[in-house]
Amino acid sequence: MSKYILIIGACGQIGTELTLTLREKYGNDQIIASDIREGNDDLMESGPFEILDATNYDALEEVIAYHDITEVYLMAAMLSATAEKFPMRAWNLNMNTLFNVLNLAKEKKIEKIFWPSSIAVFGPTTPKENTPQNTIMEPSTVYGISKQSGERWCEYYFNKFNVDVRSIRYPGLISWKTMPGGGTTDYAVEIYHKALSEGSYTCFLEEDTNLPMMFMDDAIRATLQIMETPAEKIKERSAYNLAAMSFTPKEMAESIKTVIPKFKIAYEPDFRQEIANSWPSSIDDSIAQKDWNWKAEFNLQKTTETMLENLKNRV
Ligand SMILES: NC(=O)c1ccc[n+]([C@@H]2O[C@H](COP(=O)([O-])OP(=O)(O)OC[C@H]3O[C@@H](n4cnc5c(N)ncnc54)[C@H](O)[C@@H]3O)[C@@H](O)[C@H]2O)c1
Repeated sequence: MSKYILIIGACGQIGTELTLTLREKYGNDQIIASDIREGNDDLMESGPFEILDATNYDALEEVIAYHDITEVYLMAAMLSATAEKFPMRAWNLNMNTLFNVLNLAKEKKIEKIFWPSSIAVFGPTTPKENTPQNTIMEPSTVYGISKQSGERWCEYYFNKFNVDVRSIRYPGLISWKTMPGGGTTDYAVEIYHKALSEGSYTCFLEEDTNLPMMFMDDAIRATLQIMETPAEKIKERSAYNLAAMSFTPKEMAESIKTVIPKFKIAYEPDFRQEIANSWPSSIDDSIAQKDWNWKAEFNLQKTTETMLENLKNRV
């Protein structure tokens, strides 16, 4: 049976690649991309697109009814670094869009939701190494508070109203097709662009800041995999820990030097250092491995080689 899927925030870093992958899998016309702005040519030319502000319940309901949507991927959000500058806007966007989608599912207007959480749900009191699925969670950032609240609401809607909502705590994501949108791990994308264009990069985090990261192909594969898993196997209805690799800016620079030996890095930490300090260094994702067979494929070196190979003609 063919299904129609709506991607909200389709023009962002994850939404762009998610939309293109879903279009390849299910057919271009089945996947409706939407955002408050237009996206790149690949996205705009490959299938249907709607300008849609997902904080507007009526507008969202109308698009869902018009296209016979059964599944929604809610990718619109304000990310960690930007959210510290605009706390109320971040809270309103991150929570209202989630409530709109959860309530549409509660009203049986859609059947299934994907909503991404983040490692930002953890905080300074969380065990930093190999952070377990269930542990102390006292996020100290605006973004982290919104993701932690979102997780609780997803679980609540599942328990009370049987809403089939699924979620992953993405680590920092590295991609070459779209630039990142205002997060604390953005350096791990910018560094490749600067390595190619200028041969050097000034990093906004300290050299030994160890953070969990993932290459975009792995993140998209995980997203499709959790959505295809039979509902009874999804035991975590808040969000699953997900991991691939952890590294510091210094280790990333060393990896780039294996391809560009003259590459130079300098460090000028800014307000994002404090956000990074509150997050885990590595994540235990054994429950995602057990429940839906998750396994990452990209390590740091493979990520570096793939990024530089794909960006060299673009930068
Ligand atoms: N990129 C990462 O490293 C990362 C890590 C962890 C979690 N996440 C989560 O994944 C999701 C997607 O992240 P991303 O990196 O693609 O973000 P992004 O900032 O690149 O993209 C978000 C998109 O949402 C759109 N948008 C903003 N307000 C909207 C509204 N009112 N209605 C509809 N669209 C709106 C923006 O125009 C943008 O295209 C977010 O929930 C984010 O918190 C991302």
